[in-house]
Parts: sequence; structure tokens; C-alpha cells
Amino acid sequence: MRHLMSPLDFTTQELDRLFDLANDIEHNKARYAHACDGKILATCFYEPSTRTRLSFESAMTRLGGSVIGFSDAGSSSASKGESVSDTIRVISCYADICAMRHPKEGAPMVAMEHSLIPVINAGDGGHQHPTQTLTDLLTIRSLKGSLSGFTIGLCGDLKFGRTVHSLIHALVRYEDIHFVFISPEELKVPDYITEMLKAREITYEEVTSLEDVMPRLDLLYMTRVQKERFFNEEDYIRLKDFYILDKAKMALAGPNMLVLHPLPRVNEISVEVDSDPRAAYFQQAQYGVYVRMALILTLLELA
Ligand code: NCD
Repeated sequence: MRHLMSPLDFTTQELDRLFDLANDIEHNKARYAHACDGKILATCFYEPSTRTRLSFESAMTRLGGSVIGFSDAGSSSASKGESVSDTIRVISCYADICAMRHPKEGAPMVAMEHSLIPVINAGDGGHQHPTQTLTDLLTIRSLKGSLSGFTIGLCGDLKFGRTVHSLIHALVRYEDIHFVFISPEELKVPDYITEMLKAREITYEEVTSLEDVMPRLDLLYMTRVQKERFFNEEDYIRLKDFYILDKAKMALAGPNMLVLHPLPRVNEISVEVDSDPRAAYFQQAQYGVYVRMALILTLLELA
């Protein structure tokens, strides 16, 4: 039985197969409409989410399966003190596959160890967010045609943003990627990540000015300042509007530079950018459903 805890759980060849399947689903939706008839997905979300939970629910529903679950810890037995390991033992009796989000890093891993069904990490604290990474990789592969040979700028909260951490780990396995980390000093990418890049001899720069690097980027991955992971409100208020991508900044970029964002957006991308053909974040959300459909089929061994 396979689970998904980190994007590295799949080899790059397995990821290629998953993305081929996602692209096939995109173009032949009717063929997959009953692929999961009779199967049940449990969504166990101990932390707020719109996209991830609903995209999982949409994915399973579009495959003909059904969904059960809870969307905040307060409405589950966690509020009575039940452990994640007990919860998953019980969910294993009710469902065929489980997507779990938890504020504690490693909680989905604990669930996996006690589970009788495949568990998908749908985000654990500031640690990993593998299905967002699969979404990001599928978006890049589909819109750019390749997962190698580009300069990617990651901008915003590189310290707490788990989507950033997951994406960097996944991209280092591809050829010829150059990273440009754009953040205020306080929100720099953690040392364990720059150490990993140095050890693998992967080139990166750390800068604070978004304007300066715009002309050189093939992709710009914008992120929200992760309010819920700050220890004090003052720091959050000081840093939250540090970067605002607007039309003037977009004018500095090349004609093919794509803007990605895992969403939700707060202020970091002005709505005036939405109509720019290089703004790909809503398409990215659509790819998130196709890749989760492909993932469910793969983990249930139905593909
Ligand atoms: C991200 C997350 O939950 O980490 N959202 C998502 O799943 N698309 C990004 C964020 O919350 O900023």
C-alpha cells in the first residue's frame, strides 16, 4: 500500500506517469467519470482550507466516488482528546483513502503508520504540502512544456511557506534549475534548505528586491505571508505588504514569464494582474483537481 507524505515519495518517472494521467483526465473527463464508483475518500482537516479540501472532494466526486470527513478539529473527536492514530484506525473502517491536513508537522506520518488505507498528507504545519507541489509541477509541465531548464523566483514568506519548501525539494531533481529567493530578511528560506542546495551544487540567490530580478525570471511563484505561523501580530503587520505584484512590476518581466500562486491570495498580487495572460494561478487551481484525480486513482491502484 502506498501513501503520499512528501513529493519525493514518487520517483521522477512515476511523477511523469502521474502527470500524463492528469493530462489524459483533463482531455477525456467522461472516461474517468465512474473510475471510483463505490469508493470513499475521507477528508480529515484539522486546519482551515478551502482549495485543498474542496479540490480533493471535487476530484473524488468527478471520479464517481463519495466523500466523508470533517473540516475543523473542533467538530471532530480531536476536541475530546482523541489521538490521530486512533482516528485513522477508525477512518480505515469507513473509507478507502484519506487526505489529512494537520497543524502539527509529522501528524499525517503518524496517521500513515497506523492506517489500513492510503493516507495523503494535505499539509502538515510549515513542513510539507505535497499535493500542492504536484499541482505546481503539473502546471509548469503543462504550460511550459518541461520541468527543467528555467529560472524560478520564489517570493514572499519563504520561511513559513510549506508550499515553497515542498516545491524546492521537488524541483532539485530536475536539470538546470536556478532558484531566486525573494524575501525580506526575516522571512528567508530556512538554512536546512540552502544547505541542501549547496550540497547538491544547485545555484541560488537570495535577494530582497522583486523589481531587480523580474526581467530574468521564467516563473514567479508568489506566496502569502503565513499569518497563522507568526508569533506576534506586529511582525505580521510590518511584513504582510512587503511585496505587491502589480501591473508596473509585470511590465518589467518577459512576455513568457508565468505567475503562479498556491492561493489564497491576500494583497501580494493586485487584482489588476489577473487579466494578464501570464497570470496562471487560477489555471493552477484547475490543474490541482486533475492531479488529485490522478493521485487518487494511482494510490487506489485503479489507474
Ligand atoms: C497553501 C497552504 O495551505 O499551505 N494553500 C493551499 O493549500 N493552496 C498556501 C497558503 O495557505 O498560503
